[in-house]
Amino acid sequence: GLSNTREMFAKANKEHYAVPAFNFNNMEQMQAIVEACAEMGSPVILQCSTGALKYMTKEVVPMLAKAGVDRARALGSDIPVALHLDHGPDLEAVKLAISAGFSSVMIDGSHYDFAKNMEVTKEVVEYAHKFDVTVEGELGVLAGVEDDVVAEHHIYTDPEEVIEFVGNTSVDSLAIAIGTSHGAHKFKPGTNPKLELDVLTKVEEKLPGFPIVLHGSSAVPQKYVEMIKKFGGELKDAIGIPDSELKGAAQSGVAKINVDTDGRLAFTAGVREVFATKPGEFDPRKYLGVAREEMKKYYIEKIKTVFGSEGA
Ligand code: G3H
Ligand code: 13P
Ligand code: ZN
Repeated sequence: GLSNTREMFAKANKEHYAVPAFNFNNMEQMQAIVEACAEMGSPVILQCSTGALKYMTKEVVPMLAKAGVDRARALGSDIPVALHLDHGPDLEAVKLAISAGFSSVMIDGSHYDFAKNMEVTKEVVEYAHKFDVTVEGELGVLAGVEDDVVAEHHIYTDPEEVIEFVGNTSVDSLAIAIGTSHGAHKFKPGTNPKLELDVLTKVEEKLPGFPIVLHGSSAVPQKYVEMIKKFGGELKDAIGIPDSELKGAAQSGVAKINVDTDGRLAFTAGVREVFATKPGEFDPRKYLGVAREEMKKYYIEKIKTVFGSEGA
């Protein structure tokens, strides 16, 4: 069955790699993620946002995740697979996810002040732990995808707050803000795409061995940006996190790295290529199959070059 993240993270921190947390919105993306991770022998967190849960429905999501576990086993792999709620907004959303069969949840109280964030997070942890569901909290604010992302919009995590937050709430992992952001426009063209790795180091000094999470960590590969443009799409100033920045983080206390946008780009590039080069094609398997392959190929590469979770 599905696993929570407790043992996954303990092992990742001990062996200095990060567990991939890849978002999915449909069957093909789930398959791409699971097959990539099964072939790599990497643990995997199937990540589902509230929007994705609404799109796929609470009936379909747990079935897809369980099918993912079965698929991994059929491929001869015994990797742990978690089904994780991404950016849970409140206890109600968490309750719904847990009743649907999620093994892990995030409560995102990062937009509240410190005290309120602790209060809502603690409430969720008390509830979730009764079901052996692990909980991720967040401290610090990532610049939003709607904003024209500039560094001023980040509120970096204050390392002085993390001990109290974790101690008070009993969260199992902590997402922090060090300059990553959601979406395909993480840095302004011409600026230096650098993370505040100092903040990460200071957080790790405060919480040795504790699982840290990075959101907004897509690389936005130019290969896919170019493919999308070439085959009729529009994507201006799409810039992501350089693999070199993330790799160091993965080797440190960062136990989970979230990637969604890259999967969307690979998938879209695949669909667009088929539509542009085979305009007569109307069998969904022909374009979704190509998209699935492209996404799987990308994630295999990413696991090797950034996560370090191959054969873990
Ligand atoms: O952090 C956000 C994830 O990329 C999910 O995005 O709400 O559009 O599914 P979504
Ligand atoms: P990206 O948009 O960089 O892929 O981030 C995804 C994420 O953080 C999901 O929670
Ligand atoms: Zn996120």
